[in-house]
Amino acid sequence: MNNNIAQVRARSVWDSRGRPTVEAEVHLAGGAIGRAIAPAGASRGKYEAVDLRDGGSRFGGMGVERAVAAVNGEIAPLLIGADAREQDQIDARLCRADGTPNKGRVGGNATVAVSMAAAHAAAAAEGVPLWRWLSRGGPVSLPLPEIQIFGGGAHAGRRTDIQDFMIMVPKAASIREVLEVTGDVYRAAGEVMQDRDRMVGTADEGGWWPMFDTNEQALETLVEAIERAGHRPGEDVFISLDIAASEFAEGNGYVLALDDARSSSEEMVERVCDWAARYPILSIEDPVGQDDTPGMVAVTRRLGGRIQIIGDDYLVTNSDRVDAAAAAGACNAVLVKVNQAGSLSEAKAALDAAQRRQWGTIVSARSGETEDVTIAHLAVGWNARQLKVGSFARSERMAKWNELLRIEEALGADNRFDGIRAFAPGVSAGLGA
Ligand code: PGA
Ligand code: ZN
Repeated sequence: MNNNIAQVRARSVWDSRGRPTVEAEVHLAGGAIGRAIAPAGASRGKYEAVDLRDGGSRFGGMGVERAVAAVNGEIAPLLIGADAREQDQIDARLCRADGTPNKGRVGGNATVAVSMAAAHAAAAAEGVPLWRWLSRGGPVSLPLPEIQIFGGGAHAGRRTDIQDFMIMVPKAASIREVLEVTGDVYRAAGEVMQDRDRMVGTADEGGWWPMFDTNEQALETLVEAIERAGHRPGEDVFISLDIAASEFAEGNGYVLALDDARSSSEEMVERVCDWAARYPILSIEDPVGQDDTPGMVAVTRRLGGRIQIIGDDYLVTNSDRVDAAAAAGACNAVLVKVNQAGSLSEAKAALDAAQRRQWGTIVSARSGETEDVTIAHLAVGWNARQLKVGSFARSERMAKWNELLRIEEALGADNRFDGIRAFAPGVSAGLGA
């Protein structure tokens, strides 16, 4: 097979919010083709790679014709002839093509689609699934899912301040079992909302629309849904929160609009620790804002020995920020969103920086997604051990869970799913690992 890139092209397609996004195709001289679609965030960190959008009035300014043109016009000639198996070199060329620290010129949506499409082409040329190509034939483990039950924050008109109310089932024996338990809890949560006359529909990532009077009521209702589904909160099913606190940071503090509460950083830390003491919470993402290092250090110091503390907006899939956080004592896990970095190699570098410190690593979708299932393969092939995709409804979410089921089946006897070991050592030890 000739693995040299013969053609790169992009087109504008549509994401799960009905907004345009970039799809890239990479064709190799030997005939293999790879294709990938850029996802898009709504609660974006200010330090992440930026998407290039057309602006103006068409599609609310969300058009991606300029990003598509950048792929077809500027990026394609730079990649023609490159070996698709050399991901680092391809991504270095993408970075050079852009030339800015945040992909602001050609667009992170352009670079990420091309970067992922090149990996798909290389895997196709080898005749193996992407996860196997990424692991270079080495051992892999299936990732523990965290799955949203209620979706709030920027994904639900800020109906709640906390963004994601999720569950984790770390003691399950397989992905299949995790998904069966999740399906039960998701359905039970819908029944609870129905019973209370609070059923409105779903939010951006498929979780139930959060019709609650306080943020804490969502936690209470989640515990109730777990019990109603016949499971034991804190024993077999745990809560995972993405507080996404950057979204409600104001000045030096935080404004929880639903609770009519204004907090300093110290008070926010207290609030999070209080929730962690009273609810079966195993993982907390962005408990404080992206610039609140003292807050993140305080939460990690107080809870990090037994609870996963994830940096999303705080770390933006950036290896330098992971290094700095580790030096400061902030976080014990990183969320890995390829489009926050803008290429596979840069995202992998952030994951590697975290794994060197025995942190947890969670490959993550964005709130704007498509049928593209690349992240399921990244979570397996990179041995990330955790995967966050959103909820348990809507096909752009279910496509990823279903792909994991296929990979689990393909792994057969080689399957290594070990959810309790998916975390930083102290957190795993608390689960009995
Ligand atoms: P997003 O948020 O809307 O930026 O994708 C998802 C998250 O905060 O994890
Ligand atoms: Zn987040």
